[in-house]
Amino acid sequence: MSLAIKNGAIFFQGRFIHKEILIGDDGRISKIGNSLVGDESIDASNLLVLPGLIDPHVHLREPGATEKEDFNTGGRAAIAGGFTTVMDMPNNTIPTTTKARYEEKKQLAKKALCDVIVHFGATPDNFDEVKKADPPSMKLYMGITTGHMVITDKATIEKHFALFPKDRPIVVHAADNDPNETKNLAATYDNTEFALALAKKHSRRLHLAHASTGKEITMAKAVKSATVEVAPHYLFLSSKDAESLGATTYGKVYPPLRSEQQRIVLWKYLEQADCIATDHAPHTIEDKENSAAGFPGLETSLSLMLDACDKGFTDKIWVVERMSERVADAFNLKDRGRLGVGLRGDITIVDPKLTWKVSGSGLETKCKWSPFEGRELKGKTVTVVKGGELIYLEGEFQK
Ligand code: DOR
Ligand code: ZN
Repeated sequence: MSLAIKNGAIFFQGRFIHKEILIGDDGRISKIGNSLVGDESIDASNLLVLPGLIDPHVHLREPGATEKEDFNTGGRAAIAGGFTTVMDMPNNTIPTTTKARYEEKKQLAKKALCDVIVHFGATPDNFDEVKKADPPSMKLYMGITTGHMVITDKATIEKHFALFPKDRPIVVHAADNDPNETKNLAATYDNTEFALALAKKHSRRLHLAHASTGKEITMAKAVKSATVEVAPHYLFLSSKDAESLGATTYGKVYPPLRSEQQRIVLWKYLEQADCIATDHAPHTIEDKENSAAGFPGLETSLSLMLDACDKGFTDKIWVVERMSERVADAFNLKDRGRLGVGLRGDITIVDPKLTWKVSGSGLETKCKWSPFEGRELKGKTVTVVKGGELIYLEGEFQK
């Protein structure tokens, strides 16, 4: 069945234009033009029609910690937040660090309503497994995190860089978590510098995860083969909020929320960043109360960014590019991230004027809480099509 998306402003080649989109039986965009007719049609009057968004950084927790999230609930959260593709991190309780586990996770992920791309995890000694699995991307932890995947030995880190295929990104968690801010920032910058130097030396692609300071963005952008992502919680929350949320409970995240001053500097450097990533890291309320680090972000990130556009802090075109095509480019995804004939019929339709209030209990994520509880945000995903299939229509799941 073909599907026409009519009457909206579509994001096409860096701008919004009034055109229609036709998605063919094969789930790919077959035409962009005027007066298109499909077997079915969606009316996008007064709405923005975006390429299906891509999130390069989520933790959907399956297998191993499905009490926090699984591919069903995480996939629904992704779709409700406008993402048709998410990239899942390997730091599960059962880590994605062998070919067998990598293949198993890809199978499990098929039940998600969105597409899931699985990042493979580096350990101090899994070089053969990386080679056997031959993944499109790898995550390397230099700083302590949920799970036990950190690599501190510099020669081992270098060996991973030297062996991983040249054209594929190595996602680096360089952030340190020392409770002392001065110490953790110094260690974070040291780690970042070391990893970037390796990318240069070995001509490797590096993607810097969750930059939380302007300096990390500047450092990454000085290296041609590096890209860098920012997570909205570092733009909209600071250590002041961490205190009111509970420094050791609901306000706890790695890297930690920064000072108000750092948050303002991050906004100054934001324009240079390549990607917006949610770093959706759900934990149950019980686990949060027992000091687990991480925030859910799939259902709030786009709205936070659109709300910031409405307030004049940033620009819609910039945001959409960093949540779609620039992510596709950073991760070599050739078939998505843009609206274009022959590309996948993945479409996110948003209402830039729809104001809603964040309420954890109403979210799709299994964790049912949000650090943004009670915030009023202007801008929301209303309809999502994936591969030509209507999955979410006017805020209701169709399956
Ligand atoms: O706060 C965090 N939570 N930071 C990470 O790096 C990992 C994540 C998680 O998996 O919970
Ligand atoms: Zn993460």
